[in-house]
Amino acid sequence: MKTVFSLMASAVTATFMSAALAESMLPWEDDGVLLGGTTAAPAGELSKEALDQLIEEGETLFVAKFNKREGAGRPGATQAIIPTKQRHLNDQQFARLAGPDAQACSSCHNDPVIGGAGDFVTNVFVSEGFANANFDTSDPQFSNERGTNHLLGAGLIELLAREMSAELVKIRNDALHKAATEGVAVKAPLVTKGVSFGSITALPDGLVDLRKIDGIDTDLVVRPFSQKGVMTSLRQFTVNAMNHHHGMQATERFGTRWTGEGDFDADGVINELSADNISALVAWQATLRVPLEKVPENAEWHAAATLGKEAFKSQGCADCHRTELPLTSLKFNDPGPFDVAGTLNSQQVEAPAVYDLALLEWTQQLPRNENGHVLVPLFGDLKRHTMTDRVNTLLGNELLSQRFVGRDVFMTSELWGIASTAPYGHRNDFTALDEIILAHGGDARTSRDAYAAATREDQIAIIAFLKTLVIE
Ligand code: HEC
Ligand code: HEC
Repeated sequence: MKTVFSLMASAVTATFMSAALAESMLPWEDDGVLLGGTTAAPAGELSKEALDQLIEEGETLFVAKFNKREGAGRPGATQAIIPTKQRHLNDQQFARLAGPDAQACSSCHNDPVIGGAGDFVTNVFVSEGFANANFDTSDPQFSNERGTNHLLGAGLIELLAREMSAELVKIRNDALHKAATEGVAVKAPLVTKGVSFGSITALPDGLVDLRKIDGIDTDLVVRPFSQKGVMTSLRQFTVNAMNHHHGMQATERFGTRWTGEGDFDADGVINELSADNISALVAWQATLRVPLEKVPENAEWHAAATLGKEAFKSQGCADCHRTELPLTSLKFNDPGPFDVAGTLNSQQVEAPAVYDLALLEWTQQLPRNENGHVLVPLFGDLKRHTMTDRVNTLLGNELLSQRFVGRDVFMTSELWGIASTAPYGHRNDFTALDEIILAHGGDARTSRDAYAAATREDQIAIIAFLKTLVIE
């Protein structure tokens, strides 16, 4: 029997999940981590030990450089989220613009830690990829160029979004019920966790007037991922990213069940990523610690940051960059409730896996409110806002609308970790915090103008505060 040497050696020898990764690898073999069969996706609530093992496996997959034998590359498929065939087989292994553009997730998400953000050089050219699958120009007519954001705290972000979506859907259902029983139109404000998404009017005949909703999709599901705010879950994003960046295809979307083919991308490898591979990646991302405010040791910086946090609130920054949002439950179910066909969801499995994030040491440090809810210090509102106006068009560089969202509309960036993730803005265009703040327009106009009109001392205080939001 071969001896195991590798990054995941301990995980492989010790775990029940080990069959999902290569059974035995020698450092001079070129097998990669995935050749070794699969096991079923985890189900039910995991013990701390089982969760730790799954997380370790997820990290192995996040840093793995996938090779051709494992299925890297997609000669027969495009980068599109909905499985789409190439018009002609494309035998280029990598293509910087249309992808596959990297060998590992961590090739981009690595600054300042694995799972972190990325410099301008890691920008991605996002295109749904139907008409122009193999564009070889960075001309914005063909794709939207986006900077790599960090994934720390992503599990809490998804949990917040799920709780908010559930509450908004309940508001709609209650309004419909009232309209039907009382025979009158019922207007209901869409407020959840203190964030307002406009309002709806439910009509007695069961229709809902959605014209007044704000910063959210018509199905009232908060989609917290991508800077556009159009992706529902870590699971959905992971399946997208694996195909787009690496040509690694998840069976739950590209397998026979949905496409009728075992080898949709025509690279000679079937079942490239099983449900448990995706589960491991989700578990790793969902359990990444959150970036926290770091109290500066330098007394002057400390004083400035304290002033800056107040100015951040009084200048309206915190209206969108909410300093914290309350989260009721730390139980992360995977698959989740709001995904649709092409990403495994909770209706498609007997029992979702449950990861109790309360088992993790870092969640125990988070403050709680008087109701016992965890206060997630995200500095965001999980809502989309218009970011340009007639005067200020700096954030209006995109030409393609994505999923029917306006071209100058973006989701509030979570600012936790901002001190460690330059450059800034959705295209990584801005090298200094002051620049990106002044680039705000549209819905952020009043706040931006308050910052621009503030004394130099107050401006520096805001930056001094933002510089305490570090990833360590
Ligand atoms: C070539 C660089 C690159 C690679 C490789 C890459 N990403 Fe990303 N990632 C990005 C960019 C750019 C964004 C922002 C996309 C946007 O806003 O539209 C992003 C966003 C994300 C997000 C959403 C984060 C948020 O808060 O909105 C997740 C989750 C994610 N990536 C996971 C992955 C996983 C898992 C892999 C490997 C399968 C991966 N990424 C590989 C560049 C990359
Ligand atoms: C109306 C909502 C809104 C207000 C008010 C607002 N922002 Fe933003 N902020 C956003 C959005 C949306 C983005 C993402 C913009 C983009 O990249 O397209 C953003 C991005 C940022 C970024 C860059 C994040 C990154 O990861 O690159 C910083 C820093 C920032 N805001 C700070 C501030 C400060 C400081 C203020 C107050 C002076 C402020 N914002 C007011 C919505 C707002």
